[in-house]
Amino acid sequence: MRSEAGTPAPCPTPDAHSWCDQRLSASVRADRFVTAMTLDEKVSLLGGQGVVHNGIVPGGHTGATVAVPRLGLPVVYLSDGPVGVRQGVATALPVPMALSATWDLGLARRAGRAVATEAKAKGNDIVLGPSVNILRTPQNGRTYESYGEETLQNARTGVAWVQGAQSTGVIADIKHYAGNNQEGQLGLPPFVSADGGRTNVSANMTQRTLREVYLPHFEAAVKQGKVGTLMCSYNKVNEVHVCENKFLLDTILRQQWGFRGMVISDYGASKGTATGLNAGLDFVPAQGLLDRSYSPTQIRAALTLGQVSESTLDKRVHAIIGTLFAFGFFDRSGFTDDDQQIPFAQHDVLARQIEERAITLLKNNGVLPLKGSTKRIAVVGTYADEFVTGGGSGGVEPRPGAVVTALDGIRDRAGRAVRVTFTDGSDPAESARQARAADVAIVVVGDVQSEGTDKTCVSMNCSNDALTSNSTLITSGSNCVERTCPINGTDNDRLVSQVAAAQPRTVVALQTGGPVLTPWRNKVAAVLEAWYPGQAGGSALARVLWGDVDPGGRLPATFPATADQLPTAGDRRRYPGVANSALYSEGLLVGYRWFDANKLRPAYPFGAGLSYTRFRYGNLTVTRGGPRGAVATAHVTIRNVGRRPGIAVPQLYVSKPSTRPLRQPVRQLAASHSVHIPAGRSVRVSLPLNDRSFASWDSSLRGEGGWRIPRGCHRLSIGMSSRTLTSSAVIARGAACPGARLRLPVTGLFDLPLAPPASSQRASS
Ligand code: BGC
Repeated sequence: MRSEAGTPAPCPTPDAHSWCDQRLSASVRADRFVTAMTLDEKVSLLGGQGVVHNGIVPGGHTGATVAVPRLGLPVVYLSDGPVGVRQGVATALPVPMALSATWDLGLARRAGRAVATEAKAKGNDIVLGPSVNILRTPQNGRTYESYGEETLQNARTGVAWVQGAQSTGVIADIKHYAGNNQEGQLGLPPFVSADGGRTNVSANMTQRTLREVYLPHFEAAVKQGKVGTLMCSYNKVNEVHVCENKFLLDTILRQQWGFRGMVISDYGASKGTATGLNAGLDFVPAQGLLDRSYSPTQIRAALTLGQVSESTLDKRVHAIIGTLFAFGFFDRSGFTDDDQQIPFAQHDVLARQIEERAITLLKNNGVLPLKGSTKRIAVVGTYADEFVTGGGSGGVEPRPGAVVTALDGIRDRAGRAVRVTFTDGSDPAESARQARAADVAIVVVGDVQSEGTDKTCVSMNCSNDALTSNSTLITSGSNCVERTCPINGTDNDRLVSQVAAAQPRTVVALQTGGPVLTPWRNKVAAVLEAWYPGQAGGSALARVLWGDVDPGGRLPATFPATADQLPTAGDRRRYPGVANSALYSEGLLVGYRWFDANKLRPAYPFGAGLSYTRFRYGNLTVTRGGPRGAVATAHVTIRNVGRRPGIAVPQLYVSKPSTRPLRQPVRQLAASHSVHIPAGRSVRVSLPLNDRSFASWDSSLRGEGGWRIPRGCHRLSIGMSSRTLTSSAVIARGAACPGARLRLPVTGLFDLPLAPPASSQRASS
């Protein structure tokens, strides 16, 4: 479907209208435009034309505004999403979880830029991405669509994606604000879930948990990414629906963070017209369809009844118009909907490059990289022969012929000298026979994830029940009984074990959207997590298997050894919630912080991932100050002591001192860097820290709370994962600490800048 694209610029010349003078600020230009609007025009702008696409009609936009023809304002078009554009065919990049696994902000920027370039070429002004919700439980059906369990990692990846996207002139949309961490269980997709469903559940948490875990990535997108729009989510936070939550939409977002953009509701998330308008919700794209609010009649009624003032209405209209001015919408002609404009060949390469950096090597007993002596490879598993990705609004339809499956990639790379056999794994005896007859077996297995319904447990075999036909429901709340319900006729865990029993050189390539259980990990020779790998997944996998490139991925989420290790396990009040209240009583202890606090041994810890080479980390040093307002900079020299080039991902964690009333997690990520190091060479990596790296939210401050640096000894540790730390140093903040490398004062109340400035590297002898 072609849009009304190529429409003339609303401001063809600077003197066409009083609001066209480009020397004026976006806000003043918006004032003038809003003043010129009639009440009818204002009222009509706040509700969208509805879902033009929603994945059912391919080719259309996900949403559109109503035009104001009298003033020359054309329709504004919107499209999903965080993985790629959901409009016709598009480049299917590796999913966001994979992007996060690269720990490479340059790639995140390029991913955002590529998706927005395609959105623009399809006539869209706004792209509905990125999704930055925290992985609180890997059962969440949208786990694949997120950046994992670490707030800072979400913040940095999201900011980079937004910056890349908005560099094209398209406006990004950070979503889903906030606390949208589950879809619910036992429901039917997409909107109904009986137990803890996203439209009714309330994420109930303390202010500190909200400020430290569930908001900073949104805050970063606003303050650093300068994101133009934000999507309020379906759920409630502390019993108030987010799209009518004045505290979240006005006090925090606009007053405290200074957001000047436009708030868009998720599709069906707006709960009331007057409540939404008064809270700060500007635009309801699916008005009249999924949302029973924000229709012109309803808005007029709210005005007439005095539930909403005209000045409030003007504020909502101003937010929309002001955003359009700020992003140049008035000063350019409409984007043309024409796929010919898309540099598909470049994006195909990018899809492969991201996946190469995302593939995370979790175990390797020496079988990888594959040797030249490998003459026969048995590829096993349906996922080897399919394009595997997540469902819902993060779905992307790749171009015909663009997909390289694992089997395609392995066959291409193996060439004629190597015999590659394939079986889908449905016949265990045949799988074992082929594996036994080969030099190496590669089992490609994964899970099923989709928006709309959570997985009912954490193993591969226990996936999204509403989407799998032949599974039976056996759950006992969050402590779901691990079971052997087959997906597509295959019990993946049993398949891996059977192949491993037949072939000691068994490599497992996982294609999952997030953490799963790996009960067979001690029986296999190697484990790679390839995530939902995007359209070029097979090429990237083959290049990693043969060692053409080093696996660059590190885990953005902890892989538990058993389901009962998870912070959300064993207590229905936490997950999926009781009577639609999910109690976030684990507080700050999300992901690795929970495992550390409870001294649990996961299967694979946060930040883990192996290289084909070996690195030696020097001692951590700390200097005062640093770039762009940094208060201190941590430095480490890393030497590649192996014989191959490789990718190191040094991670810096901070252990803040526990003081009353602020108890602290054992450690938290403070900075990281992904760096390619040639064999035998060294690189010095510098990781700047700002005051926020040391701060905590103290709810007792100033009545409503504020950021504070706990007085005491802050220990920095550097290493290769959250559990492999090689060196540490203490920074004293407002206290005497024996052996401290640096003493820094503790300042009073302040609004701290967010993520630390960018890390850097330089070659070292
Ligand atoms: C999703 C959003 C998406 C919207 C439009 C909703 O169900 O939660 O992420 O942007 O649909 O497709």
